[in-house]
Amino acid sequence: MSTENTYILGIESSCDDTSAAVICNGKVLSNVVANQEVHAKYGGVVPELASRAHQQNIVPVVQNALDKAGITKDDLSAIAFTRGPGLMGSLLVGTSFAKSLALGLNIPLIDVNHMQAHILAHFIIEEGSKIPPFPFICLTISGGHTQIVKITNHFEMEVLGETIDDAVGEAYDKSAKLLGLPYPGGPLVDKYAQKGNPKAFKFTQPKVGDLEFSFSGLKTQILYFIQKNTKENPKFIEENIYDICASIQYTIIEILMKKIKNAVKQTGISDVAIAGGVSANSEIRKRLGLAEKHWKWNTYIPKFEYTTDNAAMIAITGYLKYLNNDYSDISIASKARLKVTE
Ligand code: KG4
Ligand code: ZN
Repeated sequence: MSTENTYILGIESSCDDTSAAVICNGKVLSNVVANQEVHAKYGGVVPELASRAHQQNIVPVVQNALDKAGITKDDLSAIAFTRGPGLMGSLLVGTSFAKSLALGLNIPLIDVNHMQAHILAHFIIEEGSKIPPFPFICLTISGGHTQIVKITNHFEMEVLGETIDDAVGEAYDKSAKLLGLPYPGGPLVDKYAQKGNPKAFKFTQPKVGDLEFSFSGLKTQILYFIQKNTKENPKFIEENIYDICASIQYTIIEILMKKIKNAVKQTGISDVAIAGGVSANSEIRKRLGLAEKHWKWNTYIPKFEYTTDNAAMIAITGYLKYLNNDYSDISIASKARLKVTE
């Protein structure tokens, strides 16, 4: 194997997806994700079950990623893993595995911040991919976070605004739960929304700071709305599911677009990216695409497979750190709470 090639193995196990990926010089060779079906019937992630499923999945997932990349573990240059934020029991599985493998192979270990990785997925080199220039702003929208981040350099980030309560992914998942849809409900609300009328029902938007978000009020509004309407018509949800989902989605995406507009106005930066699980949403992708035309922004929309949790984003972040010789000590510990700036 040529010594010019840098092969980074990325390992992601922060929540309920076990993932491993191999990146060579910034290009993805493999990105294997094992979803954990076990949580669907509980309506949310059960931490203990997630940790156990990671333990079962991690060896075959890593082996699969190496096989698909066409390399063996001896070709690896370094191992990158998610240090946090996430569920401690889940993080520990990836962290211990990464440490053991790095130690066994005598290669560098690199810790990665999951939230930075969602953003840095934009630096994966791929045909037709558009890499954002510095500085740019990124709307990071996931199951645990909703932030507007200014990125000055790969590892120089500043949070300009964030949610004061629920994350946008939570708003999707909790609304879906109220509608009787299985976890995670975000993708289903999105799917049904595409068949409905977004103006069928009206929900009010929160009154918070220009760059702040709040979604807990929306969740309460939806709860009362459903309670009231199902009292009058027990089949209300069934008969109106498409319109309800379209109206919820419309409200959420209006809020997100308004906040990005505020951020562009305040910073004067019109290079705008989205990242995180909710950036898989069809409507935010469409609206951001339109903003490129209407408002002359340069927009950066991640490839679908790099939106929800995946190890390719961990591997690319590891690669960028590797280029800076930014390695971790073997004593490094997982952290359930970690700011995007840490
Ligand atoms: O980034 P991610 O995979 O995990 C976290 O780091 O939280 O994000 C998961 C979140 C879930 O709340 C899920 O419902 C949401 O992303 N999500 C979506 C869509 N796909 C995933 N929300 C709305 N529309 C989608 N298409
Ligand atoms: Zn995530």
